[in-house]
Amino acid sequence: MTPDQSGLSARFFAAEAMARQLGVLAMSYFTDQKSLGISMKGSQDWLTEADGRVETAFRAMIAATFPNDTVMGEEQGGATGEALWIIDPIDGTANFARGDRSWCVSIGFLANGVPTLGVIYAPALGEMWLARVGHGATLNGAPIRCSSTTDIARASIEVGWSPRRPIEDYLALVGGYFRKGASVKRSASGALGLAHVANGRTDAYAELHINAWDVAAGVVIAAEAGAILSPFFTGDWAGGGNPIVAVTPALASEIMPGLGL
Ligand code: IPD
Ligand code: CA
Repeated sequence: MTPDQSGLSARFFAAEAMARQLGVLAMSYFTDQKSLGISMKGSQDWLTEADGRVETAFRAMIAATFPNDTVMGEEQGGATGEALWIIDPIDGTANFARGDRSWCVSIGFLANGVPTLGVIYAPALGEMWLARVGHGATLNGAPIRCSSTTDIARASIEVGWSPRRPIEDYLALVGGYFRKGASVKRSASGALGLAHVANGRTDAYAELHINAWDVAAGVVIAAEAGAILSPFFTGDWAGGGNPIVAVTPALASEIMPGLGL
């Protein structure tokens, strides 16, 4: 059943507390690199013991607290539902596995198909990003807004990459933004990439293909901070993913067309 406003409040506060607990669990692996149990799901597709453990712990928390809700996650999959949690237990797994602190636990909540709550916790960076539709976005409790950049020649843009799309398409997208005068980077966490648009660390995040667990929290955080978002939760988003763009409003017409949006 779709939660009412008080149900959403309960879920929002619970999700922050759960993210903090999951962050402690993930940090116990991160600070003991021998415990990581690294394997590869495919080319440049990293997996550690922590990914599975964090998702399993989250599923147990939801089953105990909101037993009628549905959970979808990167490691164990799952179907959609009216009250749907989407977790990426560790986003930025390649960073996590290499001792780079740019990784996070990402928890999104969709009410009747609409992204409504977003929680991104980066414990190694000490950053908690939160948003609830209609209530704004915060970083460590302080309200955040996307940048006011209007000139692409001053813009900093992150373009996410995975082997799920041809490298030629990625290079063409990056090259197009460089030619327009932007500075382009890649930091290897889609969730944090969206969060960084929300407080103006970057002016846009774009990726040709991404999965729901990477973006379910970040789209709420970026939109509540004033960014323009491409419509990710459309079509076969659950089965196949979609492209994603989050961009400060004045640069939308420069960034969106590169992805056919
Ligand atoms: C990946 C990261 C990366 C993005 C990829 C994701 P993972 O997730 O978010 O930045 O470009 O599309 O698959 O493997 O770190 O959980
Ligand atoms: Ca991910």
